[in-house]
Amino acid sequence: MRSLERDLLKWIVGALAVGTVLVTVAAYWVTLEEMHEVFNAELKTIAEGVARMHHANQDWTASADIPARTDIPDNSEIVTQSWTAAGKRLYISDPRVSLPFLSIEGQSQPLVGGERWIVHTVLRHGYVAQAAQRQSQRQQMAGESAAQISSMMVGLVAAVGALLVFSLRRGLAPLDGAARDIATRSARSLAPIPMGAAPQELKPVIESTNELLRRLGESFLAQRRFLADAAHELRTPITALRLQLQMLKRSPDETSKQVSLEELESGIDRSQHLVEQLLQVARSEPDVENMRVAAVDLAALARSVAGRFAIKADARRVDLGVHVIDEAVVDGDVQQLTVLLNNLVDNALRYAPGGPVTIEVLMDLAHPVIRVSDDGPGIPEPERTRVFDRFFRGTSGSQDPEGSGLGLSIVRAIAEKHDAKVELGYKEGGRGLSVSVVFQAAQTRMRN
Ligand SMILES: Nc1ncnc2c1ncn2[C@@H]1O[C@H](COP(=O)(O)OP(=O)(O)O)[C@@H](O)[C@H]1O
Ligand SMILES: [Mg+2]
Repeated sequence: MRSLERDLLKWIVGALAVGTVLVTVAAYWVTLEEMHEVFNAELKTIAEGVARMHHANQDWTASADIPARTDIPDNSEIVTQSWTAAGKRLYISDPRVSLPFLSIEGQSQPLVGGERWIVHTVLRHGYVAQAAQRQSQRQQMAGESAAQISSMMVGLVAAVGALLVFSLRRGLAPLDGAARDIATRSARSLAPIPMGAAPQELKPVIESTNELLRRLGESFLAQRRFLADAAHELRTPITALRLQLQMLKRSPDETSKQVSLEELESGIDRSQHLVEQLLQVARSEPDVENMRVAAVDLAALARSVAGRFAIKADARRVDLGVHVIDEAVVDGDVQQLTVLLNNLVDNALRYAPGGPVTIEVLMDLAHPVIRVSDDGPGIPEPERTRVFDRFFRGTSGSQDPEGSGLGLSIVRAIAEKHDAKVELGYKEGGRGLSVSVVFQAAQTRMRN
């Protein structure tokens, strides 16, 4: 895994190291240039000084008058020599170094004894005077000063690296604290991570983690509530089943036994319906990953659902029709959309027996719409917001023993998974009920 500390250290120390090399090289060249300037002037002054000395003592007969050196001169010293104009050597300051005779004024760089020398020659009054220095001498001095600068830079790099590690560890310490906090809390605790002294850069991470914890908490709570409600709802039909079973046991004759058996059977039907509804609720939970999305033709969907309800509609003397006003295709999970439409049609047949029930498919301003309308009692205005709550049953539903109060909550959950809205309205003329599922406009769908 990538480490912030290692990355920063690598980059910053690396950049400083490259900088150190560049500075050292530059320092060497600048110093050498400076040395040339200073020592070239020096050599000239010294050579002129030697020439002037000879001129002052014209009848001076050469080396005899100048005491010869007895010590071995330093390698780094500037050496001097003088000659007559004819090339007879008059004086040599270091007997180890005999520079070649030159009668041209100015600087030259001869090789003497395998070493490069920098020589300044002066011609005055019939004398030739020379002052010279080893080139390596200047290079060595420039090298020494560059080495000093470089060692200081290396110290600086080490100090910056150490400071970087220190400040990063200090800055990231709150993260360790937060990790420890999460590690030690109980699995049930969804309390937010304290922001504490966390650096600004970590705030978005902590904030979004807290937001996730909050949503997890909400969904845990919703699940627990649903489980409690479901258990409560299941108790009623099971109690009824037990009663019916006792009746059956006690039936004195064949006919009453038959009646009890039929009641028991419809009781089992109701329980099964409830269990199926509960299962649908569980499946309509908003985990979008489990959706198998494909293009769904709403007209085909309407026809297949209508076909499945044909017998039930006949039994309730309902004229169940499909009316395709526009062709409409949506991206969705065909199984879930079938469950949605089943619930709407089931309600219409249940609460509006005897009248016509229509499934309409249309486009409303580029929004695909599927709508189920009936001529029944409708849902009174004050109940309209609550009918989508789980286990809520309205006035029209309270007479029906088979209801669970889950149908419309399933409809809404599935619609939300499909980014669709559920709208309650009236059939034309202000009668009955029409439930419209309005999908996202076609262009919006294509982008997803
Ligand atoms: N087509 C309809 N006509 C009249 N009332 C309806 C219709 N559909 C639903 N309702 C009302 O909304 C309530 C909630 O519906 P639903 O969630 O399907 O539960 P259930 O049908 O099991 O009672 C019903 O109890 C009923 O009062
Ligand atoms: Mg229902």
